[in-house]
Amino acid sequence: MKKIYILYPKKIATIAPEIYGHFTEHIGGVIYGGIWVGKGSHIPNIKGFRKYIVEKLREIKAPVIRWPGGCFAETYDWRDGIGNNRPIRPNWWKNEDGKYETNEVGTHEFMDFCEAVGAKAYFAANLTSTTPMDIRNWMDYCLSPQGTTTLAMEREKNGHPQPFNIPYWGVGNENWGGGGNMTPEYYTNEYRKYSTVMKNTAPNVSLFMCGENGADYHWTNTLAQNLGSVHADGYSMHCYYGHLGNVINFTQKEWYDVLSQTVIMDEIINKNWNIICANNQEDKLKLVIDEWGCWHPAGSGPSKGAKLYEQQSTMRDAMTAALTLNVFNNNCEKIKMANIAQLVNNIHSLFLAEGENCITTPTYHVFNMYKEHQGGEAIELIITDNHSFENSISASASVKDGKTLITICNVSCSEDVKISLEGVGADIPQGAEGILLYNEDIRAYNTFESPDNIAPSSVSIDITKPITIPKAGILAIRF
Ligand code: AHR
Repeated sequence: MKKIYILYPKKIATIAPEIYGHFTEHIGGVIYGGIWVGKGSHIPNIKGFRKYIVEKLREIKAPVIRWPGGCFAETYDWRDGIGNNRPIRPNWWKNEDGKYETNEVGTHEFMDFCEAVGAKAYFAANLTSTTPMDIRNWMDYCLSPQGTTTLAMEREKNGHPQPFNIPYWGVGNENWGGGGNMTPEYYTNEYRKYSTVMKNTAPNVSLFMCGENGADYHWTNTLAQNLGSVHADGYSMHCYYGHLGNVINFTQKEWYDVLSQTVIMDEIINKNWNIICANNQEDKLKLVIDEWGCWHPAGSGPSKGAKLYEQQSTMRDAMTAALTLNVFNNNCEKIKMANIAQLVNNIHSLFLAEGENCITTPTYHVFNMYKEHQGGEAIELIITDNHSFENSISASASVKDGKTLITICNVSCSEDVKISLEGVGADIPQGAEGILLYNEDIRAYNTFESPDNIAPSSVSIDITKPITIPKAGILAIRF
C-alpha cells in the first residue's frame, strides 16, 4: 500500500486559476463549426457561439482563453476582423487543409465568447508580419477609454463603447519556427522593440515573451541573459506530447510511452525555471505554458481527418491531462498560466463537435474534477513506495475555503492500487466526497452516439481506511 502524507504546513504557493486555461486558434474546426455556429444558426447559441460549449466552460470555471493563434496569429491583421465587409484571406493553415479565413469571428466576437464564458482574454500579437504600430493600433482600438481616440470611437461605432478587458498579450508565437524562424538574439531585440511600444500604449496589461520549443534551453538562456531591464510579465513555452502510435487501439506500452512524457514536462519546467532564476529574471519570466497536450496522428476524430489535427480522446488523454495538471499544481510557484491545446475538434480537445452534435471528451471531466484547485494553496505531498513509473501514482493537493482537494492518478493500466492518506500538521476530517473517472477499457472514448461512455461518478470514501483506485483511474477527494 502507498501512503500519501499531506504536509499542511508546507505550502507551495497559490495555484493561479489561469493554469486551467484554454486555447482557440483559427485552425481546422476549432472556431468555425467548433465554438462558432453563427448568429442565425438553428444550433442553440449565445451571440453565435455554441451554447453547449459556453455552458460547459462556465461549469469548469474556465479562467482564460488564448486567441487567435498559434501560428495563425503571425499573419493575422486585426483590422480584417472588425466592422462590415470583412475580407477573405489565406488562413495560415491553408496549405494543410485548403481553407480560407472568412474573418467572421474577429475581436468583438471573440470578446463576446469570453464574456459569455466568464473567462479572461489572452491575445497573441503578430510579431512576424506586422509592425509595432499595427499592434499599438490594435491595443488602442481594444483598450482606450470611450470617446478618447479615433480608434476607440471606431470601436464604439462597431458596437462596443467601453474598452475590452484583455489583460494578457503574447508578443509573438513560436518565433523560433512558424513565427519568423528567428534566432533567440534576433527575437530578443524584436521583443524589446514591440514590448516598449506595447507597454507604453497599455501600461497595465501583462506581456509574455515567446519562449522555447520543448527543451531548447539555449533559447531560454539567451533570452534571459539579453532581456536586461526591459519589461516582461511571463515566459511562454510550448510542450506537446509526441506523435506516438495509434490514437485509439494503442498498446499497453504506448499507454506508458505517452504518460511518461509528463515526467519530461516536469523536467522542462524545472530546467527553464532554473535558467531564468540563474539570470535573476524570475520576477519577470514566470512560465506561461500556453500550448500543451497530446498531439497524436490526425484522422481519428469524428470528421475522419477533414478537420485539421482533430483527434479522438481516450482515457489515455484524460490520464495525461490529469498527470500534467498535477505537475503544474506541484510547480505552481513557477507557473503563471497554462493553456491546453486546443479547445474543440483539434489536438487535445475538451469537446468534439459536428453540426448540432457536441460532446465532452474524458479530458473535459478531468478539468471539472480539478477545478477547485484554481486559486487554492498548493500543499506539498510525500508519497511512499512510488519509484517505478508504471506502478506509480501521481497526486497534488490544495486547500481553498477550508477544504482540501487531492487529485490522485493510478498510472498503472493493469493493477488497482491501494492508498492511505495522512495529514501532517492537521488531521484529515472524516466525511469526504470522492469523484472517480474510470473505464474498464483504457481505450474507451466518448462518441456522439455514446456521449457518456466515460463520465465521472461519485464514490464514497472512508478516509480512515485504505482507498482503492482502480487501474488507470483518476480520483478526486475533497474534505
Ligand atoms: O496548436 C497547433 C499549432 O501548434 C500552433 O498554431 C502552433 O503554435 C504550434 O506549433
